[in-house]
Parts: sequence; C-alpha cells; structure tokens
Amino acid sequence: MLLLHLSDVDEASWAKAFAEALAPYPVVRRGEQFDPADIRYIFVWKPKADAFDGLVNLEAVLSLGAGVDALLKHPNLPEAPIVRFVDEDLSQRMSDYVVAHVTMHHRQFSRFRDDQAARRWSQFYPPAASETTVGIMGMGVLGQDAAKRLRPLGFDLRSWSRTPKSIEGVQGFSGQEQFDAFLSGTEILVNLLPLTPETTGILNSATFAKLRRDRLAGGPVIINAARGGHQKEADIVAALRQGVLGAASLDVFEVEPLPADSPLWEQPNCYITPHIAAISSERSGVAYFSRILRDHEAGKPLVNVVDRDRGY
Ligand code: NDP
Ligand code: OXD
Repeated sequence: MLLLHLSDVDEASWAKAFAEALAPYPVVRRGEQFDPADIRYIFVWKPKADAFDGLVNLEAVLSLGAGVDALLKHPNLPEAPIVRFVDEDLSQRMSDYVVAHVTMHHRQFSRFRDDQAARRWSQFYPPAASETTVGIMGMGVLGQDAAKRLRPLGFDLRSWSRTPKSIEGVQGFSGQEQFDAFLSGTEILVNLLPLTPETTGILNSATFAKLRRDRLAGGPVIINAARGGHQKEADIVAALRQGVLGAASLDVFEVEPLPADSPLWEQPNCYITPHIAAISSERSGVAYFSRILRDHEAGKPLVNVVDRDRGY
C-alpha cells in the first residue's frame, strides 16, 4: 500500500493520479482508514512529526523534493531507504532558470535598466559569452544539465564538486583544496549544491571576495537556486552595497517566504524569485515514482537512493 503525506501541495490531486497509474495497487491518504502496518511506501513533502508513526513495514520513503535536507532532519525518520526525485522535466526547468539569469547578467541587464531609467544613451558592449566564465557549484543531476545547456551558448564553463568530474567542455575542480582556484576564475557563480553541514553558508563574504573581478563589468554575480541555507543574506546585502558583487539572483532564502522587512527586497541588483526555479510536476512525478514502486515490487533495486552519511 502507498500512503501520501504531502503538505503545501494538492495531495488529493496527486493521490487520484497515483491511484489511476498504479491500479489495482492500493493508494491511501492521511486521515483515511488503513492499517499502518500495511504501508510499504510513503510519498512525502514536508512531512509532519507523526508522518511515520506505526509504519513498521516500510520499504521506502519517496521524496517529492529533489533536495532532501529538510527530510533528513525529520525527528522520526525511519531507517527505510529514501528515494529522491530525479527527473528530466525538473532539470529542464531548473536549467531554464539558470540560463535566463546567466545570460541576463552576462548582457549587463542591470546597467542598461539603470541607463534607461536615467534616459542615458551609453554604448557599452558586453563581452562575448566565450569571454565570460560561469562556475557551477554542484555537478550532479542539475549542475550537469545546466552545463549541457550553457555550453552551446559559448560560455567558458567550470565546475566544483566533492569528487573529481571529467565533463567535456567543463573545467572540473573538486574538494576544499581546489575551491579557491575554482572561485578565482569564476565571474558568474551558480549554486546547485545540496544543503549539507559542509555546504551550509557557503555563499558568504569570504567566498564573494575570491571571485574574479577584472572582466565582468559591474562585478561578479551569484545565482542561488539550491537552498536558502547556502547563503548568508547579511553578507549578500553588504557585498551588493559595497560593489563586491555586481548582482545576485536568488530563488531561495534563509527564511521562506522571505520576510517583508528583509533588506534584500530593496537591493536594486538583487533579483528575487519565490522558490519557483523548478517544480516537481505531478505528471512526471507520478510516472517516476509509480515506475520505481512497480519495479521494486517486482524485485528490482530502488534507484536514486539518498546516501544518509553524505547527506544527499
Ligand atoms: P545531486 O545530488 O545530483 O548533485 C549534488 C552535487 O553537489 C554533486 O556534484 C556533489 O558532488 C556536489 N556536492 C555535494 N556536497 C559537496 C561538497 N561538500 N563540496 C563540493 N561539492 C559537493 O543533486 P541535484 O543536482 O539533483 O540537486 C541539487 C540541489 O538543488 C538539491 O539538493 C536541492 O537542494 C536543489 N533544488 C532546488 C530547487 C528549486 O526549485 N530551487 C528544485 C530542485 C532542487 P559529487 O558529484 O562529487 O557527489
Ligand atoms: C526540491 C525543491 O528540492 O523544489 O525539489 O526545492
């Protein structure tokens, strides 16, 4: 039996779609009549404290989120393997966000917006994409997809990951020992890391000060589409005010929704979106997890299982 436990999304709609996709396999929602011992799979998003109570025969926890940082902090998380969402549609949407913001900053959007507001005709020519270095932190599913879509546009690409990567057209850096070298050539820094103890607060003043400053007019730029816990917002505000950063595109925040009194709202070169860079769509989510459930029931191993020791 599959149990759905989803907060802040339309659980009824997901349940209907799962019931249709998996029939005759039983699908239930919170509050319905069932014996918790019959639940073999639970599909979760922002599970409440009692979400896993009584689920003594659980085979897997299925996570609607691609990022599992919050789930891993659940006080009553069972031992069962956690399968996270990995999906082409989600990757495409995330890359859409990354490409839009990289190209916007490369083409000096803030500068020309300010010129227009001032009715100023100032013929500044942005560099070619090949003269602009984009550094991607996190070279997993989303980082690799972003690189794949930025490459045909001609950007000079580099990446930073925990273990070394060899990806055509992308200069790879890995580990703490190569972090500074990675930053020193990066003008547009894209964050697609998972949130773990090692990556918490990584977007901070010390990191910003190490970015390459001599090529991109206005100063280096950060783009964070991963988690708010990666960024120190006080440092971002200071860096934008002092010109250490030329601009920031932020989709995620330390506190969400971003409080109305956050100084980030007033920063003219801070481009804020409300955690919408990519969404796990119902259609592809139901297809993905139904396939995983059916395969597992047929004896196949689970895929995209989270490594709890690594934290992602
Ligand atoms: P993956 O697990 O596929 O990739 C993670 C990457 O980060 C890997 O390359 C990994 O290195 C690297 N990494 C992890 N820890 C470190 C470290 N300490 N130092 C350097 N590199 C490290 O994740 P995804 O690409 O699928 O997703 C990334 C994140 O994006 C998610 O965790 C989630 O938080 C966020 N997200 C945000 C969304 C939004 O709407 N804003 C939507 C979906 C996801 P290695 O390859 O060596 O293991
Ligand atoms: C995710 C997210 O992790 O939407 O999937 O942030």
